[in-house]
Amino acid sequence: MLPFRLQLLRADHAPALLAFERENRAWFAASIPDRGDDYFADFDARHAALLAEQAAGVCFFHLLLNDDGAVLGRVNLIDVADGAAELGFRVAEKAAGRGLATAAVREVCALAATAYGLTALHARATLDNAASRTVLARTGFTPTAAITLTGRPATRYERPL
Ligand SMILES: CC(C)(COP(=O)(O)OP(=O)(O)OC[C@H]1O[C@@H](n2cnc3c(N)ncnc32)[C@H](O)[C@@H]1OP(=O)(O)O)[C@@H](O)C(=O)NCCC(=O)NCCS
Repeated sequence: MLPFRLQLLRADHAPALLAFERENRAWFAASIPDRGDDYFADFDARHAALLAEQAAGVCFFHLLLNDDGAVLGRVNLIDVADGAAELGFRVAEKAAGRGLATAAVREVCALAATAYGLTALHARATLDNAASRTVLARTGFTPTAAITLTGRPATRYERPL
């Protein structure tokens, strides 16, 4: 497994995070909706808004960093409500296929139960996203419903903590 350090998102992560999103834009867009040009144009304001949400306890944004401080991936918990949150993750193309998402999701599930006091997580993945579905199955998520996500057939998953 590729080694990484997991850190909660901070203001000073902005340049490394922007580089990660820029370098991997086409890679992500092959599996999930593109963030759009506005995301990159308004990155600093958005970064500040995410930190404000995190400070309010509504979201927990985690970065996976290598020893040089470069971002290898992200695992986010958003929309905390009633003891549950929605899990989302993405890994850099150059770091993919080496167990990073699986290990990081496991770590975030543990944090969610202990540090954040959550009792359940949910997630969604399109049927054509085999890597994401593999990660969710390996980390204890169970399919609970057939849904549509960005116009494509998808599955909703849940995991008690
Ligand atoms: C999904 C994603 C986060 C997986 O990250 P990762 O670090 O490569 O994941 P892992 O290495 O922990 O596990 C992925 C597993 O899926 C498998 N996999 C990858 N692509 C696959 C495919 N097309 N078909 C079947 N299995 C596939 C990998 O081989 C690996 O299994 P293995 O360990 O048995 O080889 C990464 O591919 C990504 O960022 N994709 C774009 C964004 C995205 O789809 N995010 C999820 C939104 S729901």
